[in-house]
Amino acid sequence: MGNEAKLEFDQICENYINALYQGTTGFISYKAGEKEANAKNNIYLTYGEILYPSVNTLIEHLEINNQDIFYDLGSGIGKVALQFLLKTPVKKAYGIEASDGRHQQAEKVYRTVRQEFPELFSGDRELKSSRGNFLEMDISDATIVYTCSTCFSDELLNSLSQVFDRCPNLKYILSMKELSSKIPLDRIIEVDCTWDKSKCHIYSRPVQV
Ligand SMILES: C[S@@+](CC[C@H](N)C(=O)[O-])C[C@H]1O[C@@H](n2cnc3c(N)ncnc32)[C@H](O)[C@@H]1O
Repeated sequence: MGNEAKLEFDQICENYINALYQGTTGFISYKAGEKEANAKNNIYLTYGEILYPSVNTLIEHLEINNQDIFYDLGSGIGKVALQFLLKTPVKKAYGIEASDGRHQQAEKVYRTVRQEFPELFSGDRELKSSRGNFLEMDISDATIVYTCSTCFSDELLNSLSQVFDRCPNLKYILSMKELSSKIPLDRIIEVDCTWDKSKCHIYSRPVQV
């Protein structure tokens, strides 16, 4: 694809995501004590989003092929996994989200995408949101993981690092907060989020041959 065509396609993707999510928000109100009760189970409900151009910046730093399996851990209303499906050749784009309301909104949008563009799913490609605590889900098939970990505790970051170290095919971890994973830190880049600029740590494991 030439540069102009790439820019045009990118604009189409951004407009499509904006249209799909019009009138939808992950910023929900909480019941009294809900956040504190969830934090005891390593679930940090505080919301915010990475912005579309910054997801593109992350994508540009990765080598992605049609066997890759992407997870967004704490996926909110599902924009990042959708952008990976639209903008990269990944085979699977999965989100895992603890908040049922956010997960339901993601799945509603994903159903629309499946209906409107079935060709995006040829070759067994998948786009899915699952509700639950990502620490309790099997992500052992992951090759790329992103987590907007800004509000996570040190305990959760350590547990996540251990989960990542048990994923045999993991090539990249993208995390706002620093991790203690054995996968080497490649670089730290600045990204734009709904609340401010943030650092994103990119961990990268050389591909085994
Ligand atoms: C800051 S938002 C990020 C949304 C989206 N991934 C993005 O980057 O634009 C973090 C999300 O993680 C979810 N979350 C936090 N802890 C979680 C856990 N242990 N399991 C699943 N989801 C979790 C929160 O409910 C929230 O929706």
